[in-house]
Amino acid sequence: MKMTHGTDGLWRDWALPRPALNGGRIKFLGIDIGTGGTRALIMDEHGRLVASGTEEHAAFASPLVGWAEQDPRDWWRACKVAIKAALDASGTRRDEIACIGFSGQMHGAVLLDAQDEVVRPALIWCDQRTEPQVEQLSDLFGVDRLIQLTCNPPLTNFTLTKLLWVRENEPRNWERVAHVMLPKDYVRFQLTGERAIDMADASGTLLLDVAQRRWSGEVLSRAGIDRHLLPSLFESPEICGRVSTIGAAATGLEAGTRVIAGAGDQAAGAVGMGIARPGMVSATIGTSGVVFAATDSPTLDPKGRIHTFCHAIPGRWHVMGVTQAAGLSLRWFRDQFARENSGKGGCEPVSYERLCEEAAAAPAGSDGVLWAPYLMGERTPHCDPNARAALIGLSATHTRAHVIRAILEGIAFSLRDSFTIFRKMKVPIERIRLGGGGARSPLWRQIQADVYGHAVEVVQAEEGAAYGASILAGVGAGAWRSVDEACEAVVKTALMIPPDAANAAILDQAYRTYRRIYPALCDISGRMRTDYAVPTALS
Ligand code: XUL
Repeated sequence: MKMTHGTDGLWRDWALPRPALNGGRIKFLGIDIGTGGTRALIMDEHGRLVASGTEEHAAFASPLVGWAEQDPRDWWRACKVAIKAALDASGTRRDEIACIGFSGQMHGAVLLDAQDEVVRPALIWCDQRTEPQVEQLSDLFGVDRLIQLTCNPPLTNFTLTKLLWVRENEPRNWERVAHVMLPKDYVRFQLTGERAIDMADASGTLLLDVAQRRWSGEVLSRAGIDRHLLPSLFESPEICGRVSTIGAAATGLEAGTRVIAGAGDQAAGAVGMGIARPGMVSATIGTSGVVFAATDSPTLDPKGRIHTFCHAIPGRWHVMGVTQAAGLSLRWFRDQFARENSGKGGCEPVSYERLCEEAAAAPAGSDGVLWAPYLMGERTPHCDPNARAALIGLSATHTRAHVIRAILEGIAFSLRDSFTIFRKMKVPIERIRLGGGGARSPLWRQIQADVYGHAVEVVQAEEGAAYGASILAGVGAGAWRSVDEACEAVVKTALMIPPDAANAAILDQAYRTYRRIYPALCDISGRMRTDYAVPTALS
């Protein structure tokens, strides 16, 4: 029986009683508010996928280089569509949904006024405009003190820097701000009317005392942020609200259905892959790329290159290294350079499957072509919002296959940087499970096994953060007594891929060369920043 520290400062017993579950007709709904779209997934009480529905978001706007903004109202619109699609596809009656869990893109700053209207578009996780605010926080607190208080150094991605940017640059907007929320919490607020946040997502704000699992009074007061702007804190499987009458009318869900706090997408995705105990590590390639390990206590990288956050499991923490543009690298390449005539007079991007098949024609190491994936600056290991991507080593003999393979390998090299730091931190790495797009392509799975020099596994239900959110909802509803019990019951390994010794040796050599790209390009990236920091019309 695990005892853990509750949000109210009391020690709490997290082994929940197992209630009678509605005559067995029990389902859980997990909703992931991603960057590209929202996914709603219905799971039964055995953890089996019943049905899912998705709806794309409008692409994020980038009105200036490094900026990234989305309209929170578009997430709520997409959420309603995705829920309806999942309910329709499953034939599930709305009273069969016992509990709902949310997960979502982390770090974004949703700002609401006193009437709960959106004040301005949300600055999302990959927005890099807040370098001056990072410097201000470093001067105000000292990086070491901030790490003592929050377990993390200030980074452009973290929510606090975004709040400071709006306060400094848009004082009129800031004056109107009455509530600050993270993306999934805004959507849950629309569904329930409750303002809530979980420990895992709150960890990425730089306002949480991650070790004690409570808001940091010192950070709030010295940074001048009113505690009343923030939602209430919950552990991930805790019930934090119920579907309101308005939420029910908007979604077709039943009013009164319980809703748990859920988790930021990385912690929820990790739950869905069974990354619950120390030794279990995941490598997930979505828009970003994340290497994630569960820990029993807050474990720090003294250089701050790795995030130390609360896990979605009460009484547990995790470390994670983040590649800003992992899947985004491949998407960017596809959208810009891999379109074909759709036959309807337009040009459609080719599928990721086709790209990966094409890449398989190039050998391991891509005959010397290397991709450094710094399209949106970089977090791990460089913590440099001004880093820029690079494709190097090209000659006239190289083909598009070499370039695509180099992108797949470069993303895996970037994730290997996180594994390298984990080893230095003595974070145990016993089993590696793959998630996201990197788990779906056989070629990319093998590349990852070869680059990490370690066998990799794929789980049976590789369903991402929405799956983890529905597991957490099941725990909240009492279908399982703990997240550990749920993971053991539900998450099964489907495939194990060992590294290929010959290719691993080639890629090990290529990784050493890759490591030299960033320092070699630092000077040039700095020049580019001053020469080309101009507004663009991208959106
Ligand atoms: C994690 C992070 C991203 C976003 C996007 O720190 O920034 O993974 O959550 O989904």
